[in-house]
Amino acid sequence: MKKKFYLTTPVYYVNDVPHLGHAYTTIAADALARYKRLKGYEVLFLTGTDEHGDKINRAAKEKGISPIELADQVVSHFQNLWKKLSISNDDFIRTTESRHTQVVSKVFQRLYEQEDIYRGTYKGWYCVPCESFWLEPQLRDGHLCPECGRKTEKVEEKSYFFRLSQYQKPLLDHLEHHPDFVLPPSRKNEVVKFVKRGLKDISITRLKLAWGVPCPIEKEHTIYVWVDALINYISALGYGVNKDRFSTFWPADVHLVGKDILRFHAIIWPALLMALGIELPQTVFAHGWWKIKGEKMSKSKKNVIDPQEIVKQHGSDQLRYFLLREVPFGEDGNFSTPLFIKRVNSDLANDLGNLLNRTIPLVVRHCGGKAPSPADEDKTLEEKIKKILPSLDEAINILSFSEALSCIWEIVKSANLYIDRCAPWKLANQANKQKRLNTVLYNLLETLRVLALLLFPFIPVSAQKIWTQLGMEEDLGSQTLDKAGVWGGLSPGTTVKKGPPLFPRIEQ
Ligand code: ME8
Ligand code: MG
Repeated sequence: MKKKFYLTTPVYYVNDVPHLGHAYTTIAADALARYKRLKGYEVLFLTGTDEHGDKINRAAKEKGISPIELADQVVSHFQNLWKKLSISNDDFIRTTESRHTQVVSKVFQRLYEQEDIYRGTYKGWYCVPCESFWLEPQLRDGHLCPECGRKTEKVEEKSYFFRLSQYQKPLLDHLEHHPDFVLPPSRKNEVVKFVKRGLKDISITRLKLAWGVPCPIEKEHTIYVWVDALINYISALGYGVNKDRFSTFWPADVHLVGKDILRFHAIIWPALLMALGIELPQTVFAHGWWKIKGEKMSKSKKNVIDPQEIVKQHGSDQLRYFLLREVPFGEDGNFSTPLFIKRVNSDLANDLGNLLNRTIPLVVRHCGGKAPSPADEDKTLEEKIKKILPSLDEAINILSFSEALSCIWEIVKSANLYIDRCAPWKLANQANKQKRLNTVLYNLLETLRVLALLLFPFIPVSAQKIWTQLGMEEDLGSQTLDKAGVWGGLSPGTTVKKGPPLFPRIEQ
């Protein structure tokens, strides 16, 4: 039986079209999903959309359409963008689907029956854009949201509460015994500190909000959008409906989230799961923010970058590569066009592009376009690759994507050095050097073949093109590292095909 791997992105709000920040989480998850498939796992990669709540209700009103009409429009923006970015999600959940709302309602009912949920009165402040409740002492001066700095609204109403306070001790125990439950470690420390300060029960319903899952106990109440949204990770598996699918994939291996929503995932979500008697996910990984001139990119700050534009101008692999290579995953990064151009030109156009563009024509010119037979022992590149593979695996397993790419680039750089040092164009002019020439060119082709495989998680479209130029016939996506990652997979005699440059230099 295949090993399973379940990973998720957040479900994204549909109040507006996706921006670079959303693309970031999804691209990172996609790279991990693709890598795990290469490693032979049966992967379930889930993404989707969060379609309930005030934010969406109000955005729809402003546009003069119904919330579901707005959701439908925005969902298609997300789905089109994911296609353009080669996102290989296996499922897409919308929180307005009945397969989801049904589970939300059942979960609520059950938690109420077992008294993890009780009825009370909520007095506090609500930030509409953040969909977050705050207590008076948490607010910034002038009743501003401590998260985003915008005005909050006073609320006092009957509400249902979840007994989060009861899970303080179990959560701390879990955090202590599972060092990988929250990553990176600095984020885990933040969560531990926060939980140690004490957890209060949280209000999880609102009155007079039509756009959401109705509370099954009292229909005038609507379930808090965050509780609703978190449940997507189990409703998509058919929790309580499809026992097989659920037990096959749960517990999740990785919930990938931005650091702004870590507390929901590292405190409320595990507490809800504990209350339900469900095993906790393996890891919640919180990545950093893309900023513009030092400020978080967000719709409310009107400083968002449209990933679609970058894809149109420069290509999706270029964007994927930049986002995953430029900044260590977990830290914040600044986005700027000059940085993007510099990175793409130096790594993709120069290093990788040139390696391919120097190798293939030499094979065409001097070997009749067919992969030659290696004739002497020269394990320079083979050994380099063998040495790198374990570090690459380690890096990806802790989601250090930039580290992983820098491992792969050690191979690219070695191959470029090798071609410079062996100077096959000179060998070609010496009558007695045909064997050596054959060896050098084979080694370069074979290195490119392994590179295509290793790069597939990061730049899938270009990796497939390299693979095809090398004359490899089977689909790159169906390969495994175990088999195809072994040196010597390219059969001598295979016809290579010259193609247009993969990464044209971007002119400033
Ligand atoms: O929070 N840099 O959805 P959302 C990096 N519906 N990542 C960013 C970013 C930035 N500047 N801006 C946004 C929600 N993100 C909820 C989630 S899950 C049960 C419910 C990313 O549409 C970041 O990953 O606001 C964040 O987690 C996600 O977008 C939030 O998207
Ligand atoms: Mg947000």
